[in-house]
Amino acid sequence: MGKNQYRAERPGTDTYYITTFGCQMNVRDTQTAAGILESMGYLPAADPKEAKVLLYNTCCIRDLAERKAYAAIGMAREIKAKNGGMVGVFGCMTQQTGAAQELMRRMPFIDFAFGTHQLHRLPEFIHAAQEKGRTTLFEEGNPALDFNLPAAYGRPPLAYTNIIHGCNNFCSYCIVPYVRGRETSKPMELILEEARTLMDQGFSEITLLGQNVNSYGNDWGKPQFAKLLRELDAIGVPRIRFMTSHPKDLSDEVIAAMAECSHVAKQIHLPVQSGSSRVLRRMNRKYTRGDYLCLVEKLRAAMPQVGITTDLIVGFPGESETDFADTLSLCETVRFDAAFTFNFSKRKGTAAFDMEGEVAKEVMTQRITTLIDTIKSISAKTYQGLVGTEQTVLIEGESSRDSSCYTGRIDRGITVNFPKGHGVVGDFVPVTITHAKANTLFGQER
Ligand code: SAH
Ligand code: SF4
Ligand code: F3S
Repeated sequence: MGKNQYRAERPGTDTYYITTFGCQMNVRDTQTAAGILESMGYLPAADPKEAKVLLYNTCCIRDLAERKAYAAIGMAREIKAKNGGMVGVFGCMTQQTGAAQELMRRMPFIDFAFGTHQLHRLPEFIHAAQEKGRTTLFEEGNPALDFNLPAAYGRPPLAYTNIIHGCNNFCSYCIVPYVRGRETSKPMELILEEARTLMDQGFSEITLLGQNVNSYGNDWGKPQFAKLLRELDAIGVPRIRFMTSHPKDLSDEVIAAMAECSHVAKQIHLPVQSGSSRVLRRMNRKYTRGDYLCLVEKLRAAMPQVGITTDLIVGFPGESETDFADTLSLCETVRFDAAFTFNFSKRKGTAAFDMEGEVAKEVMTQRITTLIDTIKSISAKTYQGLVGTEQTVLIEGESSRDSSCYTGRIDRGITVNFPKGHGVVGDFVPVTITHAKANTLFGQER
């Protein structure tokens, strides 16, 4: 991007702090916002209380996500009153029709709010706030995305990059297509260029992000995700991960590219949502239970050690005990390494908002508890089965529980902690798995 006509009032002195909610795509958007602020002369603040610019990058995937964001933003009032800074809110929550206006009405101390499509205008909004004008900058639609914005990637070895923005799928429960717009792929040359820059800066693992990475390239007329994986593998990115994959678009080409590229981690996040074909149809997922199980077979045939993780929703309108039992049995068949489980949350504007067959709160709670227990006991067996194996681990940093240990992930994505040995952060080291607990493996560097 380059020339920023707007600068911090005191470049090199004024600081910023960004609080992020939601998914990894939001985490990456926050890095872009940070990159823009740094190009204006702002420095990162260690503590939000000291920051001149306080930003909130929001999520609205479920009701709870919105409530969390509201609570956090509410606390900004006091900080602002003390240090005279400015407060801005952006992201998915404020992209919903009328949401930015409503937020600013309820919290008049907010200086500006905008949605997901105007991050490139951040300098302008900050300038407007400096001039003391309040701004609500919400625009509908999906204007051309600027793929050339700077980013503050943080410290190596892990980096993220958004390869496709938006979603065209309109799963009946989901707000994302309404707040992220239509699928827009980032040009392949730009991704490769970014990957080269990241490697030069010492990053060893790049996670490619998208609501549905398998649709990469569809907006140009043909899927290109398999090609992208092969290109990144060829330029030597040490480890490549990606998420999320929609089962309906996971092609044989992508499975083959995963299997054949040595730098591509044998890990896939493949949200199934439900094990009942009837519920899947009502969710507008466009695959059946059988289709999903067939994909799992293909993945395991191509990569026997592949780690499969998923997302599951319980209590979707009309979900019966039989449907729920189908979800449990699917989990038993697939044996996921891990799963994110969610209670269905009604989102305004989505097709499921007023679907019949609302599932009672208590039933949902009971089902999700059963589901979590089932998943845990299955993954515990998988983890136990890894004891005694040798795995290649990228050292990500010190373990948060024990400073004498490092933490990292094995190729298939499971976290392992092990005592510090010869390796340092950013190294790939051979680790023998010695024992397993709930969600973690423990090992010993060889
Ligand atoms: N694009 C990804 C998912 C993004 S949202 C995909 O299609 O797989 C992450 C997860 O949140 C979803 O997989 C789903 O399990 C959950 N989710 C989305 N909307 C939800 C809702 N209204 N209620 C409960 N969970 C929801
Ligand atoms: Fe939401 Fe479905 Fe799109 Fe995922 S694929 S973001 S669940 S609409
Ligand atoms: Fe939330 Fe937006 Fe991600 S709604 S889950 S932050 S795409």
